[in-house]
Amino acid sequence: MNSSGVLRAKPEAAQAIDGVLDKARRHLIQPWPTVGVLGSDARTLLTRSDGIYVYDERGRALIDGPAGMWCVQIGHRRPEMAAAISRQVMSLPYYSPWYTTTGPAAELAAKIASFAPGDLECVLFTTGGSTAVDSALRFVQFYNNVLGRRQKKIILSRQNAYHGSTFLTASCCGKPRDKGFMDEASDIVRRISSPYPYRRPEGMSLDAFTDFLVEELERTILELGPDRVAAFVAEPILASGGVIVPPPGYHVRTAEICRKHDVLLISDEVVTGFGRLGHMFASESVFQITPDIITFAKGVSSGYVPLGGAVISRRLIDELKSTGNDMAMFANGYTYSSHPVACAAGLANIEIIERDGLLEHVRQIAPYFQARLQELSNLPIVGEVRGMGLMVCIECVSDRRSREPLALDQEVGRRIDAHCQELGLMVRPMGHLCVMSPPLVIERGQIDDMVGILRQGIERTQADLRREGLWQG
Ligand SMILES: Cc1ncc(COP(=O)(O)O)c(C=O)c1O
Repeated sequence: MNSSGVLRAKPEAAQAIDGVLDKARRHLIQPWPTVGVLGSDARTLLTRSDGIYVYDERGRALIDGPAGMWCVQIGHRRPEMAAAISRQVMSLPYYSPWYTTTGPAAELAAKIASFAPGDLECVLFTTGGSTAVDSALRFVQFYNNVLGRRQKKIILSRQNAYHGSTFLTASCCGKPRDKGFMDEASDIVRRISSPYPYRRPEGMSLDAFTDFLVEELERTILELGPDRVAAFVAEPILASGGVIVPPPGYHVRTAEICRKHDVLLISDEVVTGFGRLGHMFASESVFQITPDIITFAKGVSSGYVPLGGAVISRRLIDELKSTGNDMAMFANGYTYSSHPVACAAGLANIEIIERDGLLEHVRQIAPYFQARLQELSNLPIVGEVRGMGLMVCIECVSDRRSREPLALDQEVGRRIDAHCQELGLMVRPMGHLCVMSPPLVIERGQIDDMVGILRQGIERTQADLRREGLWQG
């Protein structure tokens, strides 16, 4: 190890690393590849992780800025998780959920029901967030079919939303960059405006913007016909869209419109659930709404094993039963639904969140996290720093007054990430956006380290762009 704590790779180790990267380039297709990198893509190679740090192939410690992908709530390498997973593997690693029940699945369902709002107490487990939202949407379709409302099928979603990568959930996404070359179920999905205060029309007050958004939702329902609109699917904070926090009152008012027109509200808490905003679920605790269905994933198992699900209102189940149509089958489920190992990991994860007081910790440290990151807004390339809880987005612009985004092909986020990785921090880059959502266990000193590196990474990127004539700021 040299004086800066960097492990010098031995020749054999270096060869092994090259071998892994070569196999990845030749055989591994990673998410969201462009044609240019298909079949030749090898991303940062990580070899281990601990607490809020991941380690690359050179042995360098990097702060895990995005908590993997909004998910490693309890931090990396928790022995309790290894023990719980191992115990379950050694007692019953798997059996078909079609014919059997396991203790971990029943226990975890009951646990989730105990902190879900209102009468949301019926839980189905899936393999991740996409399958959670997909199952929730298919449940809504099933519900309306059983109730004899076969024409009530349209799903409303929003620009900038992200709900997953199955055909149906991808159809509900509203990130323009992801749309170009992919097909979608455009017949049953309609998108409305993003509640994006930073990009509201020039000169419009925040109150007027909120009125516009709420009116647009109601107008869309009325134009399509309430008898045709089945559900509104919405993230409480649009996460992958760039941590877009809707204006105050937005959630309560849109929930009222949905209720008024008998449109089911699906709150997609795949990111906001399990502590990121200081509560197990944010819908009621933070935004004062009780949706009909909440979808979750990521933080439910802190990413140690794949798990997701949906918690559904008892009222909807009762309504289905009251039709007397006992043979109608909700033909949805997976080989790995209710997976006992995943559910055991979920139980252990929630136990850690509760035992270590992580929700209280987030509520306490989030104002410091937000305030420290806000300091970056004095950098000339930064248009806005926004967020809530332990979620922040730094939006870079070419000009702060016009808020014009930097051209995507400059990939400013990627450049910032590359500089930050050299300095010891993983960033989640998305075009001109950088997202930070660290493990919930992060402490003040580590936030200081993160902000210090980010500042340097952004300053270096600014200097590069100026030198290359790509930005005049
Ligand atoms: C809000 C939201 N919903 C759904 C998903 C899809 O989850 P997964 O990638 O686990 O399928 C994501 C993923 O980031 C998400 O952010």
